[in-house]
Amino acid sequence: QALERAVNLPEIEALGCARLDQNALEYYASGANDGHTHRANREDFARIHLRPRLLVDVSDVQTKTSVLGLDLDFPVGIAPSAFHGLAHPDAEQATARAAAGLGSVMTLSTFSNTPLEDVAQAAAGRLWFQLYLYRDREVSAGLVRRAEAAGARALVLTVDTPFVGRREANERNRFNLPPHLQVPNAGSREALAGLETQSGSQLVRHFQGLVDPSLNWRDLEWLRSLSRLPVILKGVLTAEDAELAVQHGCHVWVSNHGGRQLDTAVSSIAALPEIADAVAGRAEIYLDGGISRGTDVLKALALGARAVFLGRPALWGLAAGGEDGVRRVLTLLRDEVRLAMALSGKQNMQQVGADLVKL
Ligand code: FNR
Repeated sequence: QALERAVNLPEIEALGCARLDQNALEYYASGANDGHTHRANREDFARIHLRPRLLVDVSDVQTKTSVLGLDLDFPVGIAPSAFHGLAHPDAEQATARAAAGLGSVMTLSTFSNTPLEDVAQAAAGRLWFQLYLYRDREVSAGLVRRAEAAGARALVLTVDTPFVGRREANERNRFNLPPHLQVPNAGSREALAGLETQSGSQLVRHFQGLVDPSLNWRDLEWLRSLSRLPVILKGVLTAEDAELAVQHGCHVWVSNHGGRQLDTAVSSIAALPEIADAVAGRAEIYLDGGISRGTDVLKALALGARAVFLGRPALWGLAAGGEDGVRRVLTLLRDEVRLAMALSGKQNMQQVGADLVKL
């Protein structure tokens, strides 16, 4: 009932936060260091102004689009985030069902609390799989094959995390994954328990033991040879890396990991224009970071993204009400996109272009 009364994403955030314990809340909410990039992701959207056109027949606005050939009812998907089990017992399956039900797409993190096959079933074909490249390449290759066999439609390789950024609340309070939660795509808990690092955060110890910080452009050919799935590089923030991504046959996901990696890195929306220029239509571009309004979605599309993705807002919805909570988040945002299009004089996504924004 509280969910139905919530009229926007910030209200669902408040509901979700109230249901989380300190360990989970700090893990979901935190940015790196001083949180400058985390805040800039939102603030830089507010700085961009819209240029609405008038006297357009907007009696039948269409929000439909597609990503890599998959039809979406509106241009919003779920970004990969670890440990949905901290938010709700139904975990990643609830998020996937909500995304599938609304004609969206779910990107499943390598660090899910649910085996990827079970999430794939819940996602009913609307699934991308996010990959961290492991030191043990055979384990990564096995995950790629499993993802392809389970019906994932793309691999999202996260390239902004050779090391985990310093989320200081998690260090101070020694973030830990509650013992009842598993990480079935990422090796057994037992194998990881003995890892020795300097960090107080269990996530950091776990991650650093598994993920290969030597990952570089030369590894992409190997990754692409493992499956027929398209590869998307997540974490691109410059024109230079966007150009390299395209040269390596990849699509581009503009992101700074929700401000959780390199603090004071450029906000996602501020990085987008130079990336769209560099890519020049040769690959698809997506964006995440700070999306909480329909107008944010339109600004990202106007500046060259094909779709945007939600990180924390999906987690707040999941915490607030499981599948229903995520469905409420997506529904509110879909309706905001449609209204913002109508008030801007746009009938469909093809009409959303650079003339819509004043930077
Ligand atoms: C993330 N993110 C992330 N990204 C990734 O590639 N693999 C992962 O496992 C995770 N895990 C993760 C956990 C949590 C709690 C958060 C908040 C984020 C980053 C995520 O995909 C996305 O880039 C940001 O969350 C987008 O920013 P917003 O929407 O949270 O502002």
